[in-house]
Amino acid sequence: MAVSSTEHSAGLRELITFYAEAGVDECLLDEPADRFAESAQARQAGSARQPAARREETTRSPEESRAPRKSFMPDTQPVVAPRPQAAAVPDGAQAALARELARSAASLEELRQIMLAFEGCNLKATAKNLVFADGNPEADLMLVGEAPGRDEDIEGLPFVGRSGQLLDRILAAIGRDRTSAYIANVIPWRPPGNRDPSPMETEICRPFIERQIELAAPKVLMTLGNPSTKALLRTQEGITKMRGKWREHITAGGVRIPTMPTLHPAYLLRNPAHKRLAWRDFLDVRARLA
Ligand code: URA
Repeated sequence: MAVSSTEHSAGLRELITFYAEAGVDECLLDEPADRFAESAQARQAGSARQPAARREETTRSPEESRAPRKSFMPDTQPVVAPRPQAAAVPDGAQAALARELARSAASLEELRQIMLAFEGCNLKATAKNLVFADGNPEADLMLVGEAPGRDEDIEGLPFVGRSGQLLDRILAAIGRDRTSAYIANVIPWRPPGNRDPSPMETEICRPFIERQIELAAPKVLMTLGNPSTKALLRTQEGITKMRGKWREHITAGGVRIPTMPTLHPAYLLRNPAHKRLAWRDFLDVRARLA
């Protein structure tokens, strides 16, 4: 029986609706792409060409530069990564390179430019944007989450989805908003499908967030959830034990920043009864900064 074009598009619509409901949010190729082979080729070709930072600037077409979401941050204009992009092999060499590059950043804007040009983290190949920060870098309070999700990846800003809305409500409850708090993530590129970042990916990204904290120099740091607490306080203890107790984040330069680990807003959305625990932590932070 012949299928009319109307029936055909109705079928396609249903299929796409089904995919969307099932959580499919990326279009993939029919054939698997060997990103590691592409990466090796790109490295060979790239080392003979211009420096990475220049490459980033010149390979972007005007259509790829999207208009930024209204944000307090002057320097968080989303940049769409060129696709397809080679993925780096996440290894110790990339982590060492990240440490060296992060150390060399003399300002937050320099750090952001370095991260835009950095090709050593495979997560960048599948992310749409670098999610650097939102809020006020001059604020005395800095909050660090784990990694961007779908909404953050699209907007190029941290905590703009449902957990971000809850975070905004919690901040408002202690008299703050994004003009009086600075917000970032340990991992600045969305892991595909929101999977957990691997330990090596975290190791590669860690120098960047550590330098970001050092340059922002907040009076108080809050780590949101388990991964951020483990990465920035270098602990294996779980967040339920850690939360609510003051610790110190020690920067590469040896500066000690009082740090309050607390529950992640996404966890609070799933466990609303625990909001009162996070509330206590935020009240404690408010008292310390008063
Ligand atoms: N969860 C995070 O840890 N960070 C974000 O930016 C959004 C959700």
